[in-house]
Amino acid sequence: MSVHKESKRITTHTLHEMKSKKEKIAMLTAYDYSTALILDEAGIDVLLVGDSASNVMAGHETTLPITLDQMIYHASAVVRAVKRALVVVDLPFGSYQGNSKEALQSSIRIMKESGAHAVKLEGGAEVKESIERIISAGVPVMGHLGLTPQSIYKFGTYTVRAKEQAEATKLIEDAKVLQQAGCFALVLEKIPASLAKLVAKELTIPVIGIGAGADVDGQVLVVNDLLGLTKGFKPRFLRQYLNLFEEINGAVKSYIKDVKTLDFPNEKEQY
Ligand code: KIV
Repeated sequence: MSVHKESKRITTHTLHEMKSKKEKIAMLTAYDYSTALILDEAGIDVLLVGDSASNVMAGHETTLPITLDQMIYHASAVVRAVKRALVVVDLPFGSYQGNSKEALQSSIRIMKESGAHAVKLEGGAEVKESIERIISAGVPVMGHLGLTPQSIYKFGTYTVRAKEQAEATKLIEDAKVLQQAGCFALVLEKIPASLAKLVAKELTIPVIGIGAGADVDGQVLVVNDLLGLTKGFKPRFLRQYLNLFEEINGAVKSYIKDVKTLDFPNEKEQY
């Protein structure tokens, strides 16, 4: 039995209730109106306007180049489509690391200009003060630990994080700091399943995994990966439900052929 009525809006409180009732949370990224409309109608619980937009929407190699203005543009489009899901927006690289005042100003811009419901930021103890300041202004914050793509040049690779004991211990401590600071939920990216299970058990806030195994409170994927729009990206944690790259490629080839052979438009397709 679901803890929320079909038509009722998902809030941070609903997610807490879902954790306590052991109902898994389904989260996906979204960057545009049309896709968000489909995902919301399908019943997704949380939509993340991820800074992965930098990769899948703009074609950048990393998440670092995307700006606050660009995130607000994507977020506004998603918010306009959504009737039920909780919309969380990534604070982009460079919009919160400077100091807590900057973090608060960036969060306020996102909330005011996009109409989103919460923000997400990467990091542990080093962003505690920023999280507290954002929350004190009434803005819910989701944390993100493990593989944090905004630090890719520090890591040097996108491989699994926290396999060694020292990094695992630090991650557990950071997770507790984030909960203590007031985060309403936490994303764990690409870490051993046993470690994610431990964190989800220790924390009272929902823990949402991506490449973090099944024993967490919910799952998130980049929607373009799930739909097979991103060619050649097949990490072990990804379940690809469609191959839209091939589907769209085939449809466009048919269109080109129909145009060239004068098959399109036919008599019924004109005025
Ligand atoms: O930006 C993003 O898509 C994310 C998810 C991978 C959690 O942060």
